[in-house]
Amino acid sequence: MKVVRNIAEIRSITSALKSSHKSIGLVPTMGALHQGHISLVEKSGQENDVCIVSIFVNPTQFDKKEDLINYPNTLTNDLEVLKKTTCQIVFIPDAEAIYNNAIISEEFSFDGLENEMEGKHRSGHFDGVGTIVKKLFELAQPTRAYFGEKDFQQLQIVKKLNSNENLGIEIIGCPIFRESDGLAMSSRNIRLTKTQRAEAPFIYQTLKTAVKKFETEDIASISQWVSSVFAKNTSLDLEYFEIANENTLKPNTSKNTNTKYRAFIAVFAGSVRLIDNISLQQQPNKP
Ligand code: PAF
Repeated sequence: MKVVRNIAEIRSITSALKSSHKSIGLVPTMGALHQGHISLVEKSGQENDVCIVSIFVNPTQFDKKEDLINYPNTLTNDLEVLKKTTCQIVFIPDAEAIYNNAIISEEFSFDGLENEMEGKHRSGHFDGVGTIVKKLFELAQPTRAYFGEKDFQQLQIVKKLNSNENLGIEIIGCPIFRESDGLAMSSRNIRLTKTQRAEAPFIYQTLKTAVKKFETEDIASISQWVSSVFAKNTSLDLEYFEIANENTLKPNTSKNTNTKYRAFIAVFAGSVRLIDNISLQQQPNKP
């Protein structure tokens, strides 16, 4: 496995790969790798001639400085873990170089996807994501790029970026990986205290109950129920719960037969922000 830190070097590697018609799979990450990331790396390795993983904690997508400062950094361990996978190249740029000394976001329009949920609560977040993903795509020249469905809104936004900019990359969404108690795997989980960690599976339990309720109850009463159960929980603070159209991400108040619905949730455990989502078309007893 080759570690590349230099922009010119990654450009020359990917240009050579493209010239020899090799397919490239890219897995963009911010490090602190967990099994969810590894599943993307393995899929990328199986489906492409070369698998590149990028590790870069992107400053422009953080709306709060403390969140950026506290973002976990486990680089030594990440590299050890990646060596045992199908990853051939790890790209670890530095911020000044990748941003060409101007650490600011480009402004995007993602046809309104950016204004819902995470967009409402994390100002400028998706401009930051769009900026870095576009830069990584330009440098890595991937045939396919892999993103987890835990950040479902991000996945839809990256698909929109790809189509709006005619990038011609296959954007592949991969299922959420969960701990055995249902907590969605996230780099942020390592910041949870023992008590918060013990309480955190409540998020997924609530989503699973919402799936069940969706069969018979209306959206307003499910939302009220979610607010009421979180109001009684002393460890977790609900930021939002929304039932939205999976494609437009617009919140829904009524159900239409031909629409695919998904429930989205953001919760604070102390200062740690956790997000999760679930398709409302599935059976609640699915793990
Ligand atoms: O999902 C992430 O880890 C990040 O948002 C991404 C896609 C690597 C961009 O910084």
